[in-house]
Order: sequence, then C-alpha cells, then structure tokens
Amino acid sequence: MKHPPQRNSICLEDAKILTHHAYPGDQHIMRLQAPRCAARAKPGQFVHLTVDPQRPLRRPISIMRACADEGWIDLLYKRVGEGTTLLTARSAGEHLSTLGPIGQPFQIREKRPLLIGGGVGMPPMVFIAESLRHSEYQPMVILGSEVPFPFTPQPSSILLPGMPDGVIATMPLLDDWDIPCRLASQQQMPGVYQGYVTDLARRWLDSLETQARQEVGLYACGPHPMLEAAVALAREYALPVQVSLEEFMACGVGACAGCSVEVQTGKEPTMQRVCVDGPVFDGYQVFA
Ligand code: FES
Repeated sequence: MKHPPQRNSICLEDAKILTHHAYPGDQHIMRLQAPRCAARAKPGQFVHLTVDPQRPLRRPISIMRACADEGWIDLLYKRVGEGTTLLTARSAGEHLSTLGPIGQPFQIREKRPLLIGGGVGMPPMVFIAESLRHSEYQPMVILGSEVPFPFTPQPSSILLPGMPDGVIATMPLLDDWDIPCRLASQQQMPGVYQGYVTDLARRWLDSLETQARQEVGLYACGPHPMLEAAVALAREYALPVQVSLEEFMACGVGACAGCSVEVQTGKEPTMQRVCVDGPVFDGYQVFA
C-alpha cells in the first residue's frame, strides 16, 4: 500500500492532561491538550508519550479522537505493563511529553467502510467514524471487547438489517453522530452479540444487496487473530481490507527497526517498520 511521504508532521509537545478516567477492565481514557498534534492527526495514527514526567520511558497509544479547533486529543489505553501502569497514575493538570501524530493513517477509499475494532483496537475505528460524519461515506462500525466496554452501551436508535434479534447495543457517541454500530463479545452483555466481531460483520455483509456489498471496504484494528479473521472475511467476499498492526515499539519514530514485521509488498516479502511504514497496511500484504 503506497502512502504519501510524511515529513515534518511529527510534533513534540508538552501536553497537559485535561481529563483522565478509569473504566472497568483496566481501561483508561485520557484527554490531552496537544494542539499541534490535534491539528494534524488522522485515523490510524498514534502518539508516543512519556508515562511519567520523571522518566524517559515512552509508550505508543492510538489516537481515538482529535479536535483541531479546541486542540485536544483523546487516547484509550489498557493497563498491560510497567509503562501503562505508570501512565494510570497521571492526573489532570500534569504534563506529558507527547510525540505525534506518528504513522501512516487509514486511507478510506470505498463508499461503505466497514470498521471493525477489538479491544484497544477500537480507537482508530471511532476516529474514522467521526472523520466521516459529515461526508458521503456510509460507515458501519462493529466493536468487540472481552471486558466491559469503556463506555456504557445503549440501545441504538438506528435500525440495521442482518442483525440477530436483540442485538441492539451501540456506543452512545456513535449514535449521537448518526453512525450505525453494533457490539460483540464472547461474554454475555445485554444487547451485545455473543460471538466474534467478524461473525457479526458477515451477517451485515450478507444482508446487503450485491451492488452495495461491492462498495464495502474493511478497516480493522485489534488483536492479531481478529485481524487475520477480518482479512479472511475480506478475501471471501473479494473486498479491499486495511489493517492496523500493534507491535512492541522502542523509538517509535523509525530509527531502531525494533518494530519490523514481514509484509508481502511485491513478489518478495520485505521488512517494514510498524511505527512509520505502518501501523496501517494492506491486509492482504500482511496475511498473504
Ligand atoms: Fe523504532 Fe519502529 S520503534 S523503528
């Protein structure tokens, strides 16, 4: 997948924490005042931020929302190790050194983007959805989580074809934006599809007329098996698919090659850095 060159677009900012809320399942949403990043951020990009003002340790976190007018970005992250544990201790009013936005964003090409996000892979999908709010695109969002969602699911006011009886829960923000969305989990949750996000996506695809189905493109971010299943689904329906990869990152800006993955860009596999060549790749090149 060819990306435009990304020069002079990564900003270093001393970002003030505006809000920081904890949710069940060790999930947290942080709003940072980072106007330069907010003005440039695109869905799929991330920030590399210090987790403690006294230490040089940085962690990459996906951007969930960006408001250029008010100069803030929202980040959703899960506490999984030392870095994110330190981050949970940060409070509103503190400052974090923020490097971003980093990485190649999703490139929305099809009229009907099917956005599939699992766990901490939800943020880029929310970001894409918001960016398409006032456009001619017709996004459909499916979010999955095995812990409680980092929002209170509500019955959607938007009726959707192909959904099993009772599968009505959505992310309230998406409903406010008039964007159709449904939720999936292996756990039993009211109004939530019990199963995989890709199974729910298949039901929605099957409900479309042939012509409408040909206008769909898949966009996915989440755990590796979920991405593999999303690409298999796209392959089955002969649809384009872009995936955002997660990888351990050290420098976060393309200098160490520690985040390299093998991607089938041509006849031969090549090594690509997830931080700057990705994190978004053509799904067929990752799961060739
Ligand atoms: Fe160093 Fe990607 S983290 S090159």
